[in-house]
Amino acid sequence: MHGTVSVSGAKNAAVAIIPAALLSDGVCVIDNIPQIEDVKVLAETLTSLGAQVDLSVPGQITIDPTKVQCVCPSEALTRKMRASYYLMGALLGRFRHAVVPPPGGCYIGKRPIDQHLKGFSALGATIKQTNVVEIDAPSLTGAEVYLDVVSVGATINIMLAAVKAEGTTMIFNCAKEPHVIDVANFLNNMGARIKGAGTDVIKIQGVKRLRSCNYTLIPDQIETGTWMIIAAATRSDILIRNCIPTHMESLSAKLAEAGFRVEEGEDTLRILPRTARPRAVRVKTMVYPGFPTDLQQPFSALLSVAEGTSVISETIFEQRFRHLDELQKMGGKSEVTDRTAVIQGVEKLYGPDVEALDLRGGAALIVAGLIAEGTTVVSGVHYIDRGYERIVEKLQALGADIQRVKA
Ligand code: EPZ
Repeated sequence: MHGTVSVSGAKNAAVAIIPAALLSDGVCVIDNIPQIEDVKVLAETLTSLGAQVDLSVPGQITIDPTKVQCVCPSEALTRKMRASYYLMGALLGRFRHAVVPPPGGCYIGKRPIDQHLKGFSALGATIKQTNVVEIDAPSLTGAEVYLDVVSVGATINIMLAAVKAEGTTMIFNCAKEPHVIDVANFLNNMGARIKGAGTDVIKIQGVKRLRSCNYTLIPDQIETGTWMIIAAATRSDILIRNCIPTHMESLSAKLAEAGFRVEEGEDTLRILPRTARPRAVRVKTMVYPGFPTDLQQPFSALLSVAEGTSVISETIFEQRFRHLDELQKMGGKSEVTDRTAVIQGVEKLYGPDVEALDLRGGAALIVAGLIAEGTTVVSGVHYIDRGYERIVEKLQALGADIQRVKA
């Protein structure tokens, strides 16, 4: 393949910033919104709560939350994605009350929300968990919260609940992912007073009101990484644009270890094609700025054809190797023990029918299908559509022979 691909807005920023708009006293216009399933579901959810939501301009969402009264989103919507848990923090932060069914999302482990609830309780909320999570707070008072686990969701959710609390909240042991900073910037754009996002400690001084604002999302770090892996695996000279190379350092370093040369521009990346097979490497997923857990699955497709034996340690989630069974159907060789996968590189993969079992596992199967001999049919693409905007069209524009077919 060859040509240029443009990275869309960050999914994991969008799915937090859209619920965060509920905290505003006015209309929010957010640009660089990725056109993905999760955004559509969240737009539907906010509308069901009484917000006016307009997605008619491609890449933009306009949210008027002023008429929202309902604090109980439906289970039919919340179970469609993990990020519905952000409705807890946003509704609590605005109404001091939220009744939210448990979140859905990719099965990659237990994914509890105890740290989110710990933060809400610290702010003065009482929590009742039945088939829904009911959170009630006559008032919200700033507090100190020490996260037992570095959690992206809990860090963001507690920020949402704290921005309009009385007084100052300190969150310790915070997640530092780029999308955490993006959410903090959006809230500050609305008049919040958040400092330290992107470090281990975030300080939030509560304010009375948050006003309307215009905001543009950062590019998607995981989509950028997926294109880097696709370029490397298919030995294609692809210019990846609209990205932030500094967000990609852990993957760039790993690709260099595997024998690739990464060329960084201001907002572009290029992986120079390598004729030899990739070198086997060891990968350990870590919280940002470590190697992202969301990229270990697509990366494992590249390692399936590396020269030698690679090892992936998945330190964040306990069940994130199910895609390796599907890669084995394509000729891949791997063995999983607990949170470690050992991948024996093979010369070639073959293309039988495989199934996406989660979002990033689905991306791994697309990478594998692009380099396998013959045709690969990937089912379960609804998972992939949740997190990648127009991935089929973007690949076709680069010359890939890929099309969406009826199941
Ligand atoms: C977010 O999930 C992302 N999802 C995930 O991306 C990403 O893999 C993950 O962060 C890590 O970067 C969204 O942003 C919507 P965590 P989240 O809370 O918030 C444990 C994708 O493909 N934990 O950082 O669920 C948890 O079990 C998705 O885009 C608790 O124990 O991740 C996990 O082991 C997949 N208690 C670890 O912390 C809690 O209260 C990190 O989870 C919360 C988390």
